[in-house]
Amino acid sequence: MKIVKFAVMGYLLSFVVISAAILPFASAGGLIDMAFGRDIKSDRSKEPIKPIPINFDNNRAKTDLGKRLFFEPRLSKSGWITCNSCHNLSTGGADNLPTSIGHKWMSGSINSPTVLNSKFNLAQFWDGRARDLKEQAKGPIANPMEMASSHDLAVEVLQSIPEYVKWFKEVYGEEGITIDTVADAIAAFEETLTTPNARFDLWLRGYDRISKTEEEGYALFKEKGCIVCHNGVGVGGGSFQKFGIAKPYEKDTGTLGRYNVTKAVEDKYVFKVPLLRNIELTAPYFHDASTWRLAEAVQVMAAYQLGIKLTEDETNKIVAFLKTLTGDRPEIIYPVLPPSNVNTPQPNRN
Ligand code: HEC
Ligand code: HEC
Repeated sequence: MKIVKFAVMGYLLSFVVISAAILPFASAGGLIDMAFGRDIKSDRSKEPIKPIPINFDNNRAKTDLGKRLFFEPRLSKSGWITCNSCHNLSTGGADNLPTSIGHKWMSGSINSPTVLNSKFNLAQFWDGRARDLKEQAKGPIANPMEMASSHDLAVEVLQSIPEYVKWFKEVYGEEGITIDTVADAIAAFEETLTTPNARFDLWLRGYDRISKTEEEGYALFKEKGCIVCHNGVGVGGGSFQKFGIAKPYEKDTGTLGRYNVTKAVEDKYVFKVPLLRNIELTAPYFHDASTWRLAEAVQVMAAYQLGIKLTEDETNKIVAFLKTLTGDRPEIIYPVLPPSNVNTPQPNRN
């Protein structure tokens, strides 16, 4: 027990560092409130969770191009799979499957996280192997289990379509269509996929928009120690932590987490702390999709991360709080894509 406490103290310290890193987001939110003439110097502005700032994006040509690419099936070998197949923006930015369905109906080994608010992650993937969204976006296109194309083939497909040549030239000038500019445009679109105005964010900004039960759930979330790892704008995404601190996680599926990247023994079963924003939309939970029930996920966390048992009442209150983190999801107008022509490499399902 002592060791657990010590570990949690360590996390508290790292939490201070994380808080410093998220301050810029907080002040962005603050500016908005000031613009509306509100005084945000309430106690709630000091809370360890910060509201999602309203998005200001100026490069519309780039984000529009990125949106087309996000929905572009011809980036896959089969001409059928898009980023949206596994990160469905109609259903919370994930596919709600234990593991995704990729090329030739192959199933991957790990649950697909949401792309909503992914800009608030310190790195991308469960093990953080991609530094940022741009680096991440190159992965699935060439992953044989996912879109199964290659970077060269994806560029060749786009290059054959005059509209894409024109759009890339408008945004990237001479550089035109390369796997870098493809990934850059997709990442720019993903940056816009934030979900502001959750009821909890309104509460943080000084409006009483959550119930007494939900507020008690938040108090428990802090008192019990969940906040140590799940904090900041994303209510997670700010650090890597071991899954199974208080007791070893037995259901382990052989995924070694951060160890894959660092090869350090202490990084076995260390994962990026997931964002809890919109968590009610993204079942099943955990990297191995081991539960469909949010209440069970909360109890697993209490047992494995904190070494405590929550009562049913406490669990329900925390779940009620977690549901206040669902924000306004981006309204997506389905993009119209230009047609293929005789020069476009044909789809291949094999
Ligand atoms: C066949 C399903 C599939 C397709 C297609 C797919 N992804 Fe993913 N995506 C996943 C899975 C599974 C993971 C988690 C993999 C891991 O962590 O090892 C993931 C992870 C991510 C992440 C990291 C999120 C986080 O919280 O760490 C982002 C961002 C992302 N994908 C964006 C994209 C983009 C952009 C495309 C299109 C270019 C795409 N994905 C195509 C299944 C898919
Ligand atoms: C020591 C850090 C730590 C603490 C404390 C902690 N978590 Fe987590 N949480 C994690 C990590 C790491 C994961 C990812 C585990 C995995 O799937 O590999 C996670 C995953 C989750 C998930 C599933 C998210 C998803 O998208 O699948 C939920 C829900 C959650 N935590 C809620 C809580 C609650 C509620 C508490 C308090 C009772 C809590 N956590 C305490 C680190 C922590």
